[in-house]
Amino acid sequence: MLRDAMEAQFVEESDGLTFWLARPQDYDEVMAISQDIYQGNDYLPHRYHTWMTECERVVIIGRRNGRLVALDSALLVDGGQTVVLEGLRVCPSERGRGVAGVIQRVTDCYIKQVYPSVTTKRLTRRDNPGPEKLSKFIFLACRAILSLFGEAERFKGFVSGLKTKLESTEKSDGPSSNNNQKLFVLKDIHQLKAILLDPDLSLRLQLPGGAIIQDWQPLKPMESNLEILERRNLTWMVDCFDDKPMFMSFHTPPYPVPFNGGSLRFNIDMFGTDVFIAKKALIAHLEQVIEEIHGSVVVHVYMPQTFWEAMRQFCEGDEGVKQYMDYWEQLFLEKEIA
Ligand SMILES: CC(C)(COP(=O)(O)OP(=O)(O)OC[C@H]1O[C@@H](n2cnc3c(N)ncnc32)[C@H](O)[C@@H]1OP(=O)(O)O)[C@@H](O)C(=O)NCCC(=O)NCCS
Repeated sequence: MLRDAMEAQFVEESDGLTFWLARPQDYDEVMAISQDIYQGNDYLPHRYHTWMTECERVVIIGRRNGRLVALDSALLVDGGQTVVLEGLRVCPSERGRGVAGVIQRVTDCYIKQVYPSVTTKRLTRRDNPGPEKLSKFIFLACRAILSLFGEAERFKGFVSGLKTKLESTEKSDGPSSNNNQKLFVLKDIHQLKAILLDPDLSLRLQLPGGAIIQDWQPLKPMESNLEILERRNLTWMVDCFDDKPMFMSFHTPPYPVPFNGGSLRFNIDMFGTDVFIAKKALIAHLEQVIEEIHGSVVVHVYMPQTFWEAMRQFCEGDEGVKQYMDYWEQLFLEKEIA
């Protein structure tokens, strides 16, 4: 039987709210509580229906007197040991009263029932809640984000400007010290697997908290997560030195978000220690999508904090594609599930 046609599955009643598994037909109500979330960069309008059928994902909604007021979601990862929490939201009129805490406890409890092997929950968030709230978590890492915005047709000029800048730094630095290095698009799934499962990867690329963070979703580089990464249809770039990856990045296919009346959101996640390669990778990722983007485009580049200022300077000065948010961060946190 189609889930659509199914009765809503009741989860629990708590604090005057009833909790249910979300269904495809709850979409409009979920969107109604999602106005202006992440300043228009919300991924949920685009991902909701995929979430409904994604295996080992739980999506829970909370209702007060029948009205949908909150949503939380968890994806089972890391071979069943961890859940990644995503999508948390509470309708504006219910905020500041602890509803987010209630739905998170309900989600934890449900997860424990369905997946007893889970010991840990992980989440990424943009706002720093301060030391008191943060002390409830294990702090794993912090990444910097550079955000750009422009009309699709202005990206060709932007990229050619970046190339000119890169060439001039190459010249002024003399013959490149990176002769053995070459950034390439990694398409071979076996090669990708070998790279991701290499036990030295985390140290060499300084992976945040030992994880790959894909568009806010942290995953340990382990075999059982490869299938999840494959589902995301990513474009991978790697730069190797003596066959060892020294830099890795990927982009998620651009997807629509509400920003500025409707835009494409383009996320690039970067891992490594060499900002020069990061600049090359930025150009390469943009070139990969330049023919397919249209309308307004928001680009978010997630990177080690040490890259940020150099990347900002690298991107400044274009008339069409501009930085549109100041420095901001992605916090990566963990907590035991009781
Ligand atoms: C962030 C948001 C969900 C908070 O909802 P709320 O019900 O007003 O939350 P409260 O301030 O009453 O806090 C209740 C609990 O949720 C926790 N919480 C608040 N924001 C959180 C967040 N972003 N991630 C995880 N937990 C959060 C609080 O620490 C508190 O925990 P406690 O009960 O263990 O003390 C709500 O403001 C919202 O929907 N904002 C827009 C969407 C958004 O930014 N979501 C965050 C995704 S990272």
